[in-house]
Amino acid sequence: MSRTVYVNGAYVPEEEARISVFDRGFLFADGVYEVTSVLGGKLIDFAGHVARLHRSLGELEMTLPVTDAELLAIHRELVARDGVEEGMVYLQVTRGAADRDFAYPEAAVPSLVLFTQSKPLIDSASARNGIRVISVPDLRWARRDIKTVQLLAPSICKMMAKKAGKDDAWMVEDGFVTEGTSNNAYIVTTDGVIVTRQLGTEILHGITRAAVLRLAREAQMKVEERAFTVEEAKAAAEAFFTSASAFVTPVVEIDGAAVGAGTPGPVATRLREIYIAESRAHAI
Ligand code: PDD
Repeated sequence: MSRTVYVNGAYVPEEEARISVFDRGFLFADGVYEVTSVLGGKLIDFAGHVARLHRSLGELEMTLPVTDAELLAIHRELVARDGVEEGMVYLQVTRGAADRDFAYPEAAVPSLVLFTQSKPLIDSASARNGIRVISVPDLRWARRDIKTVQLLAPSICKMMAKKAGKDDAWMVEDGFVTEGTSNNAYIVTTDGVIVTRQLGTEILHGITRAAVLRLAREAQMKVEERAFTVEEAKAAAEAFFTSASAFVTPVVEIDGAAVGAGTPGPVATRLREIYIAESRAHAI
C-alpha cells in the first residue's frame, strides 16, 4: 500500500514525491528533522517536538515554512490518510534548493517533507527482552544538540554494533558515554539512582528524556544528570535508553557483560509503563 507523503504543500503518493537534486539537504545535509510517535492514532508530545524543531532551525538560521498550527494539521492529515494507529511521523526541513555554495544562500526557500511509518511500538521484542549494546568511539560532530539530518556517523556506529551481532552502540567520548546512536542512555546505580548525561552540545536533548526524568522525579525516584563511564554502566543494577520511537527500552548487556541480572530491570520496566500511560493520556 502506498503512503501519502507531504512535500512542500502537496500530499502525493510516495512514488511521486520529489525533491530537487540541488536541495541542500541532499548536497550538504543542511536540514533538521523530528520524529513524533503515534499511539492510538494520536501524536505523543507534539509540543515538545515542535519546540525542539524551532530551536534546531534557529541554531542554523532557518525558518519553518508553515505555522505550528499548520504543521500539526499536516501531521494529523498524514496519520489519517495512512491509517496509522501505532508508529511515527517523520518530518524534515532543509534549507531548500540553491546553486552549490558553502555559504547559506540568501534566497533559498526551505523544503518541508513529512511521511509516516506504521510500526508496533508498545509490543516490541526489544522492550520485552532488552537490547545488547557495544561501546564505540563517538564519531559525530560537535553540535549534537541540533537535530540535523547528517546521520552518517551514528549510522556507522550502528553498523559496528550490527556487525558485532549486537543491537546498538553507546558512543563514548573522553571516557564517558554520550548517548546511543539514536537515543539517550541511562544507568540505574546499585543504590537505585537513575543516571543520565547532563544536557549540553554533546548530546541531543531528547523529548522522551525530558518527560521520563520529570515522571521519575514525580514518582520520587532519584535522578542524577551527569556523565558516566562504560565501566560504571557494566557495574550498574540496570541500564536503559529512551527515544520517541522506543519509549523506555532496557539494555541488558554492554560489551558482552550482563547488566545486573541480564534481564529487563524493575526501574526501566516501571518507567516504561508510567511513560506510556502518561503519553496516551496526553496524546493529541
Ligand atoms: N532519534 N539522541 C539521538 C542521537 C537521537 O537521534 C534521538 C532520537 C534521541 C532521543 O530523542 P527523542 O526522545 O526526542 O526521540 C537521542 C530519533 C527517534 C530518530 O532518529 O529516529
